[in-house]
Amino acid sequence: MEAAAELPGLRPVAVADRDRARADALAALHRVEPCEPERLLADQRVSVVAIATPPADHARLALAALRSGRHVFCEKPLATRLEDATEVLAAAGGDGSPRLTVDYVLRRNPLYALVARLQEALLGPPRRFALENLASDEHLGRDHWFWDREVSGGIPVEHGVHFFDAGAWLLGSQPERVQALEAARPDGRVDTVLAAASHPGGASASYAHSFARPDRAESQWTTLDWGEVANGRLYGWIPVELELDIRTDGAGLAAVQALATDQRTALAVLGYRPSGAERITLELASRGQPGRWDLRLRATLGGQAAKPRVYRESVRAGLADLVGAITTGGRPAVTPTDAWTSLSTALATQESATTGTATRPRELPS
Ligand SMILES: NC(=O)c1ccc[n+]([C@@H]2O[C@H](COP(=O)([O-])OP(=O)(O)OC[C@H]3O[C@@H](n4cnc5c(N)ncnc54)[C@H](O)[C@@H]3O)[C@@H](O)[C@H]2O)c1
Repeated sequence: MEAAAELPGLRPVAVADRDRARADALAALHRVEPCEPERLLADQRVSVVAIATPPADHARLALAALRSGRHVFCEKPLATRLEDATEVLAAAGGDGSPRLTVDYVLRRNPLYALVARLQEALLGPPRRFALENLASDEHLGRDHWFWDREVSGGIPVEHGVHFFDAGAWLLGSQPERVQALEAARPDGRVDTVLAAASHPGGASASYAHSFARPDRAESQWTTLDWGEVANGRLYGWIPVELELDIRTDGAGLAAVQALATDQRTALAVLGYRPSGAERITLELASRGQPGRWDLRLRATLGGQAAKPRVYRESVRAGLADLVGAITTGGRPAVTPTDAWTSLSTALATQESATTGTATRPRELPS
């Protein structure tokens, strides 16, 4: 609501929740009207619907909104079943269809944008993407829907889907096969899922999610490896720091220096407003070979304290992507197809974790 309220072209008008007290509270906070979910689509002022219910209802609500001609900003995952996601894709995929994007905040993170620009300028796709997500369960009480696979889809679907999307984006391909394991507490709640994915051409990804610690003990990082050329890490699940070691020649050095010099452009994400705390620094050492350089690139969005702001700006950028697509008649940068393919990987991972066998993600229907 905060992100939407601050975006030119959008004006929040109403909030619906099947728990009326929650709708009333949110509506009062943001000075909009509370209403029943059934009445939202009868309101002629509503042209965009943001869906932020637990995952199992996303597809049904997205379809209702799309079929009534509304554009949709959907929380991840797009659905908890691939058949439902396919229906949404059919309703949002045509040229004249209402537009839909999914709130993949990593795609709207300036450090991911910088890595993508470095890839385009000199690195190419990585050989390896490895996420370690030691996450908090402090706000996930015993009865929270997160633990109910029928509602959440399971950890790979509810949370992992962010990283399947981001990994496939940087690697430039969808995985061919995934193999996963899950671990449960004595009370049966699955709090850990480990997954490995093989990508075409020998690239690989791994994803470790564990929801078993208090907020203060959270720690997340993503290792990126371009083999001989570079390696490094993003810190935070909402990345706020980046460190890369790059081994390159004179042309590569010039490309990195150009990005480090024009920092605003290097970190730019449409709809994301920098805070002023963003910095890119470059340390340079000659390798003792003519024309060969070792670089250490560090980038920060303001450290861990910046996370809430980075998060909100990333949501705002997602909304800006949608508004841009609506007003220009174009496509959002994060498409319904992206949401479908990352869900396909997530569901294959969930299946592999349950059955113990390697699984091939289903391919996009023609
Ligand atoms: N993109 C991100 O980084 C990110 C971060 C957090 C949560 N999420 C996603 O946001 C969604 C909501 O998560 P949350 O933690 O806010 O959940 P929550 O349980 O705090 O809130 C969900 C709300 O939806 C209401 N609701 C449930 N079913 C409904 C229905 N059919 N119609 C109308 N209202 C309904 C509930 O009453 C509740 O108020 C989930 O899909 C979650 O995965 C995304």
